[in-house]
Amino acid sequence: MSKKVLITGGAGFIGSHVVRLFVKKYPTYRIFNLDALTYAGNLENIKDIADAPNYTFVKGNIKDINFLNALFQEHQFDGVIHLAAESHVDRSIKDPNAFIETNVIGTSNLLNAFRDTCNGNFENKLFYHVSTDEVYGSLGKTGLFTETTAYDPQSPYAASKAASDHMVRAFGNTYDMPFVISNCSNNYGANHFPEKLIPLFINNIKNNKSLPVYGDGQYTRDWLFVEDHAQAIDLIFHEGKKGDTYNIGGFNEWTNLDLIHLLCAQMDEKLGRSKGTSAELITYVKDRAGHDRRYAIDASKLNKELGWKPSVTFEEGLAKTIDWYLANQEWLQNVTSGAYKEYYEKMYN
Ligand code: NAD
Ligand code: TYD
Repeated sequence: MSKKVLITGGAGFIGSHVVRLFVKKYPTYRIFNLDALTYAGNLENIKDIADAPNYTFVKGNIKDINFLNALFQEHQFDGVIHLAAESHVDRSIKDPNAFIETNVIGTSNLLNAFRDTCNGNFENKLFYHVSTDEVYGSLGKTGLFTETTAYDPQSPYAASKAASDHMVRAFGNTYDMPFVISNCSNNYGANHFPEKLIPLFINNIKNNKSLPVYGDGQYTRDWLFVEDHAQAIDLIFHEGKKGDTYNIGGFNEWTNLDLIHLLCAQMDEKLGRSKGTSAELITYVKDRAGHDRRYAIDASKLNKELGWKPSVTFEEGLAKTIDWYLANQEWLQNVTSGAYKEYYEKMYN
């Protein structure tokens, strides 16, 4: 069946993997990638599919409701997969309003534009909102986030994503708009902007720069390979129950320090350095304000209902990720020049 699908944020980290998967797997679909190309968006991430006949890139900002209305009127999309967002917690601490503008108002703009073009007829239509486990707040030593865990966001980023989730559910309830939401744990993989832990540390290890560990390094995250997240999104988009929520996670918890030691060991081997060399770069720095202690996802609903599970172990996924960064130094150089340098100075010096 042919469908017109709008994917937002498709030039970013996760979005680029989702766009590639859909363009390749569904040749009869028309895939539109809407992205404002902020610092985190990069068309190089998807240059391999740029000329595919079923793919169109649209440069535009979800903060601009008039632009969105015109786009939706013109194309009458069957589905929206919404990933465009400000996504970095540290940036949200410095500039919370930017997160409200894109994540809350931008999402509301998309919902409005979709509702208006559907004009009450939502047959075969779907709004898929991609969200994060950070909306649930922070866990103690035990327990897992399930789909019914109460929202308790702690950072401006998490609060803005929580607000956007609420808006999606409100549109479902108020206008009968068919939707699904997924809340995923920390992703890692190729094309990840080097402000987040794993790509930042790979880049720093390669360049013999210090590895800034926040606080005591005992913060815990559940890590998922980005291609497994893209597969889960595909499955939920096609088979998820309308109006439902799915948690996505890697069944893969690591404290930051353990993860960093694994990363250092793999990097030593790949760079031909003697054991322990990269770990000498570890430096403890001031903690992040309001730092969430632990996230851990129970993804068993997605596993039981739709049969999804991660395809790689963390060791395999991490090795693939390091290989990608070492083979794509030009990509790293391009994204770490100019504005990135200023960001790094401001955040870490
Ligand atoms: P990213 O920062 O790498 O990419 C975001 C993309 O959105 C970029 O291409 C950027 O140009 C675009 N964008 C930003 N503001 C925009 C605007 N106003 N209008 C149009 N485009 C805009 O983010 P990511 O890590 O790929 O995350 C994608 C989505 O997945 C986000 O909604 C995020 O909350 C969610 N998520 C991320 C993770 C993670 O670990 N990275 C985990 C769970 C959920
Ligand atoms: P990050 O990749 O920013 O993801 P999130 O905050 O959304 O979980 O950070 C992952 C963990 O790594 C988090 O506990 C903060 C920590 N961290 C550092 O210790 N140093 C760093 O330079 C960065 C960017 C993160």
